[in-house]
Amino acid sequence: MEHWMDLEKRVVIVTGGSNGIGRAICNSLGRLGATVINADITPPGENENMEYISCDITKKEEIEKLVEAVYGRYGRIDALVNNAGVNRARLLVDAKEPCSKYELNEEDYEAMMSVNVKSAVFLSQAVARKMIIHKQGVIINMSSTSGARGSAGQCIYAATKSALSSFTKSIALELGKYGIRVVAVTPGINEKTAMTSSDAYMDALAYTRNTTKEAVDSNYEASIPLGRLGRLEEVADAVSYLISDRASYITGTVVNVSGGKTTD
Ligand SMILES: NC(=O)c1ccc[n+]([C@@H]2O[C@H](COP(=O)([O-])OP(=O)(O)OC[C@H]3O[C@@H](n4cnc5c(N)ncnc54)[C@H](O)[C@@H]3O)[C@@H](O)[C@H]2O)c1
Repeated sequence: MEHWMDLEKRVVIVTGGSNGIGRAICNSLGRLGATVINADITPPGENENMEYISCDITKKEEIEKLVEAVYGRYGRIDALVNNAGVNRARLLVDAKEPCSKYELNEEDYEAMMSVNVKSAVFLSQAVARKMIIHKQGVIINMSSTSGARGSAGQCIYAATKSALSSFTKSIALELGKYGIRVVAVTPGINEKTAMTSSDAYMDALAYTRNTTKEAVDSNYEASIPLGRLGRLEEVADAVSYLISDRASYITGTVVNVSGGKTTD
């Protein structure tokens, strides 16, 4: 029986599909019958039902190779999900210990900007070139509520997410005439992923907020009107819907999937 989202045979590239939200997106799309290509530097686990192409999305030449490989094989790319991201909690200024490992440095800045923003820009460019030929396509950019509100200890991470939301709105204006929709999705605080469960991330976040790891975790639910963390599937299902033709009049906007944590 045809599923109401009708994603059968849609060809979708998802970046960072080996872990966390990206993995949930690959699974959701796969269950709905889409052909999913996971582009990641980390291979997926065994028994994952997805096509995997190893790609460092910060390198423009690897992006070009990825897009040519997928287009060469399938003759179309229906959707791109710019999901991969990195988050290093850093203070702009560490007044307690200047130049500590938790004070923002150039390498942190470059790492977050290149994975979170540069990759999405040049992947969107390469994929949109193909979508324009077919006069259809959908680009989803994974933003974050931190980009809308700001986040103590995460000034550059939040800035990259804000950049993605803004990028979404501008390219939607440029690409609409070719039948290409562009939407940003803003998750809030979710059940743990590789990104948010690592000791490096939690230690840094606790330091930058002058608190303990336990206190960081215990405050989360209270800040969410629905009173619980988001499930990765909840973000993934929103992405599948936005890719589907059921969302055919949604473009140039930011879809908030945060349990009400923010309203913008
Ligand atoms: N986890 C959350 O609560 C949360 C909240 C808001 C927004 N987000 C956003 O959702 C997205 C996914 O987050 P997550 O928590 O699932 O992350 P994650 O760390 O669990 O997974 C990220 C994936 O991206 C891949 N990746 C990193 N650098 C790459 C590169 N150079 N080339 C190719 N792949 C690369 C990693 O290998 C990994 O598989 C990110 O953009 C993140 O900012 C997450």
